[in-house]
Amino acid sequence: MPTEPAEPDPNASAANAAPLAGKRPAPPCTLVIFGAGGDLTKRLLMPALYNLSADGLLDDGMRIVGVNHGERETAEWRTELTESLRRFAADRASTFHTSQLDEKSWDWVVQRLQYFAGEFESDATFESLGQLLAQAPSGNVVFYLAVSARFFRPIVEHLGRAGLLKEERGNFRRIVIEKPFGTDLASARDLNAQILSYASEPQIYRIDHFLGKDTVQSILAVRFANALFEPMWRREYIDHVQITAAETIGVEARGGFYEQTGAFRDMVPNHLFQLLGMIAMEPPNSFDAETVRDKKAEVFDAIQPLAARDVVFGQYEKGPAGPGYREEPDVAPDSRTETYAAARVHIDNWRWAGVPFYVRTGKRLAARRTELCVQLKTVPFRLFRDTPVDRLTPNVLTLRIDPAHGTSFDFNVKVPGPVMQIGAAQSSFSYGDFFTERPNVGYETLLYDCMLGDETLFQRADSIETSWAVADPVLHPKDGPLPVHGYAAGSEGPAEADALLAADGRAWRSLSGTGQRN
Ligand code: BG6
Repeated sequence: MPTEPAEPDPNASAANAAPLAGKRPAPPCTLVIFGAGGDLTKRLLMPALYNLSADGLLDDGMRIVGVNHGERETAEWRTELTESLRRFAADRASTFHTSQLDEKSWDWVVQRLQYFAGEFESDATFESLGQLLAQAPSGNVVFYLAVSARFFRPIVEHLGRAGLLKEERGNFRRIVIEKPFGTDLASARDLNAQILSYASEPQIYRIDHFLGKDTVQSILAVRFANALFEPMWRREYIDHVQITAAETIGVEARGGFYEQTGAFRDMVPNHLFQLLGMIAMEPPNSFDAETVRDKKAEVFDAIQPLAARDVVFGQYEKGPAGPGYREEPDVAPDSRTETYAAARVHIDNWRWAGVPFYVRTGKRLAARRTELCVQLKTVPFRLFRDTPVDRLTPNVLTLRIDPAHGTSFDFNVKVPGPVMQIGAAQSSFSYGDFFTERPNVGYETLLYDCMLGDETLFQRADSIETSWAVADPVLHPKDGPLPVHGYAAGSEGPAEADALLAADGRAWRSLSGTGQRN
């Protein structure tokens, strides 16, 4: 275990780029990544650090220590990360500054990388880590737990016992924890209690990467920076809301993880509820972290616990898009794990009582689409009774998160011609048509905010627990496990999910086309 901190070579190290307009670089700190060899580090954290470096948002006093079991040289780790970043940059130009790696910005990061071999559960690791951190140029430290959830507790406990979470002489010590944060209410409570016995709430940054997406953050801007929406954003005008996170990919190499987790735990109480919180929260008085999080907490608190009748589970079977889930690697041939979940959510407060929020997510669906659709109530038909018009389609505001970034609004217009005919029209906006989109893998803002100490986009202990409390009756159903219905890989999901909305006289928005499914 090396105990000398990485010192950027003054000849080789590129100077940091000039900061992006209107932004200041984060304060100096050491970023300690547990799980240096993992996928998250390679695919998301390093690309995000690279993008931040290119934007000049990192301080020259930054150091990055990657902890993992297994001896290896820092040089070897640097080469591996460089190769993977080069591959990603070529594959996914939109998420990076150029399709060719900008050597200067990456070199700035590479010079600060140091590999640190150590077991996550051994006292010796944390003792040596303490010595290393004592020599770092800054006393500020962010500990990033990019590890499997079973290591969250032991790592935090060891950090606490080794005294590495003590904030002294104005230095910060922060812990970033990935999802899944618990697997139900009891486990999330336990985990919170255990972590909070070593660190205070302001030191804990529970990540939900959906909140790092620019398009998710812009939900608040659309709602609160326009006079048009807020007056109608309530039960008097809104018929229902649909929140979709549909994926075309299957479980890929994550069969083992997915068998334990399933689509519901993986996506609903975290990603989908976070989107719901943004849509449903009351206007905060400021963007202050506690104010925003208080408003979201009120929404989660008002959601009624889910009942089995409000939830549909599905599992993909062999279909046009490929083999079934049970044929995937590391999946039991008789698995009952759901790869699709839909739910009808009721928010029992003055703004939303009586307005259902339908949420759905699934793997191997007809299209990749993350979006929120707010459907307004239909207007009285009286005026059109004596005309050839037979129906009016409802107004729908759609906020597109992925892969398209933008909004659209469905409304009715007169069809040109001598008779009164109404036609459905759509007005849409794409961010790319008006703005230059920033290269982004989704973790840039989250890492930067954590270094700045801004917790707005991170989840607080109480909200995590209230979200699990809503989900708990479905996770531990009194009348036995929920049925898991089959759907063809590449389809729109199970028929039972259609029936959930049909029972309310509604239909899901089509994944493959536009408008409602008939
Ligand atoms: C992750 C889930 O949190 O989010 C994955 O574990 C899922 O199963 C992913 O694929 C979806 O995120 P995104 O940003 O690709 O929509």
